Amino acid sequence: MNLTELNRIATAMVVSGKGILAADESSGTIKKRFDAIGVESTEENRRDYREMLFRAKDAMSQYISGVILYDETIWQDAKDGTPLVKLIEESGAIPGIKVDEGTQALPMCPGELVTVGLDKLAERLKKYYERGARFAKWRAVIDIGSGIPSMTAISVNAHALARYAALCQAAQIVPIVEPEVLMDGDHDIDRCYEVTQRVLNKTFQELRVQRVALEGMVLKPNMAISGKKCPKQASVEEVAEKTIRLLKACVPAAVPGIAFLSGGQSDEEATAHLNAMHKLGLLPWGLTFSYGRALQAAPQKAWSGRPENVAAGQRAFSHRARMNGLASKGEWQSSLEQKAA
Ligand code: 13P
Repeated sequence: MNLTELNRIATAMVVSGKGILAADESSGTIKKRFDAIGVESTEENRRDYREMLFRAKDAMSQYISGVILYDETIWQDAKDGTPLVKLIEESGAIPGIKVDEGTQALPMCPGELVTVGLDKLAERLKKYYERGARFAKWRAVIDIGSGIPSMTAISVNAHALARYAALCQAAQIVPIVEPEVLMDGDHDIDRCYEVTQRVLNKTFQELRVQRVALEGMVLKPNMAISGKKCPKQASVEEVAEKTIRLLKACVPAAVPGIAFLSGGQSDEEATAHLNAMHKLGLLPWGLTFSYGRALQAAPQKAWSGRPENVAAGQRAFSHRARMNGLASKGEWQSSLEQKAA
């Protein structure tokens, strides 16, 4: 393992002004997104859609540090035969790959999940590296509800995240460690804070036990935020203040960077929250976005599967990428959104 190189890549992934495009929707998830815009989820349509994003030159070169791909996409070529990975590299962004294989029901723990995909991971990582991937992603899912999460679910998911991270570093790939506490429930922000604190503490404990080099990883957490169905929604300032307090308490300064998931927040909320965090003063790590939905909802709608809408789709993507790039420096203002509209 060359830790200097892993650290260089992790630092580049969270450089100020840029963030990560999470375009690693599994075939099931992208079908849901395409259903919403009336597009059939064929291999060709999925390729055309992602090619549109990766060819959005301005957005990709100025605001996107890395792209997380799904297995199908990393092997696909653009219409003209150029590998999609090449398009990403040529824009100056780093290609990455989702390597978990989704979730399974966790035995003995009703309603809880464990992320799988460790079998043969070492071999798969080798092939992905040869194809150009320099970082990977593994997402653990923790749900908040009555009586959950259990310590069992937190602990087995943290163990798997650390196993994955160690395998990545041995393969000279930077692991994005993503323990996502879902925002789907009716819990308030303080319950989210308390659960996320337990999850992050357990995750870093496992990372240490399994000898993962913190200098060569990126953390992808949820924000401390109210559940979607909670009647009392915390303000932008409260989300920012509690999220930073939580991360400072749990994430060692050796970690080069933190890149948030959007998790079902609206486009503008996700941007406003990141921006407000940067207004709170200097931070010990890079802090940026690794958004899926909050970067892609607008371009998906603008594109709607029509070749004549490619330019409009790219404009919508460029706008959201720029807004989030500014937010990663604390330079975003809501008036910039209205101007674009
Ligand atoms: P969202 O930003 O849509 O939550 O997706 C990010 C991601 O990669 C989740 O694993």
